[in-house]
Amino acid sequence: MNKKPIVISYKQLPEEACRQIREHYDLVHIEKEKLENEPSSVSELAGAIGLMGAGLKVDSSFLEHAPSLKIVANISVGYNNLDLFEFTRRNILATNTPDVLTDTTADAIFGLLIATARRIPEMDRFVKNGEWSKSISPNYFGVDVHHKTLGIIGMGRIGKAIAKRASAGFDMNVLYFNRSRNQEVETTYQARYCSLEEVMRRSDFVCVMVPLTNETKNLISQKKLDFLQKHAILIVGSRGGVVDEEALVTALQEKKFRGAGLDVYEKEPLPKDHPLLTYKNVVTLPHIGSATEETRYQMAMLATRNLLEGLKTNQPPNLLNNEVNE
Ligand code: DGY
Repeated sequence: MNKKPIVISYKQLPEEACRQIREHYDLVHIEKEKLENEPSSVSELAGAIGLMGAGLKVDSSFLEHAPSLKIVANISVGYNNLDLFEFTRRNILATNTPDVLTDTTADAIFGLLIATARRIPEMDRFVKNGEWSKSISPNYFGVDVHHKTLGIIGMGRIGKAIAKRASAGFDMNVLYFNRSRNQEVETTYQARYCSLEEVMRRSDFVCVMVPLTNETKNLISQKKLDFLQKHAILIVGSRGGVVDEEALVTALQEKKFRGAGLDVYEKEPLPKDHPLLTYKNVVTLPHIGSATEETRYQMAMLATRNLLEGLKTNQPPNLLNNEVNE
């Protein structure tokens, strides 16, 4: 019997995804850390025609170990882990999973904003630590979210879904900065297009939602953080590298603004001794924007479809090769 070509997954997949892939391919699971740290020891890599998972850095040096590769199906909308120039040069397809995670991620980021403003994680610890012996002092009060000004940096699909929640649900004024203007958010949510500096200076909450590219690396630098108002709260929901983390820690140390909520970091998992973990006014989530049972299932199934159609027709529904990530 002819052996089936190899597809490597480096993320746990739903049974249905495994079943569909196994109809045509030999599906092998390899830990992401192993692929990342010692690709030369993964014997299956040499013959693998497909890779499926999230967050693995696939660049020219990794691709040297995978000469038979035809497609990498990211189970994420972000694709800063893939060197698209190198993919196209080598005739390898790259795909992602847009749309299916938009509302879920917007819910999480808006939840993070509320949690930071109302100090929800801190108050949870307060109760569980047995500190709730009388009504709480004003020292523990949070700040309102409704009717405030939200600045969104990066008005893509998720930025738009956050604008909707802010405008329709919380009566907030929305300011935004993006590479291009978005008429729909301006008309539907009365969002106002501003320069990046203006968004930083005029917002009560600033939500960073731009993808990580060479252009946006450390976009939110120390200079930009200095524009924030003293009472402002910064929310980081797209990719860690977009905000200069060292500058963020310094700004927090110097109490330049009220606090921050982060779901993403320069290095993930966040190192246990990271200074961000020492601030009470910083809420830290472990990159859970899209992490619900329903959405992660849909993302895995969409990535499966991309993988199977990509290998069969060369035309997966969410092809990235024409996008630019530099
Ligand atoms: C994405 O899909 O890019 C989210 O950040 C989850 O990884």
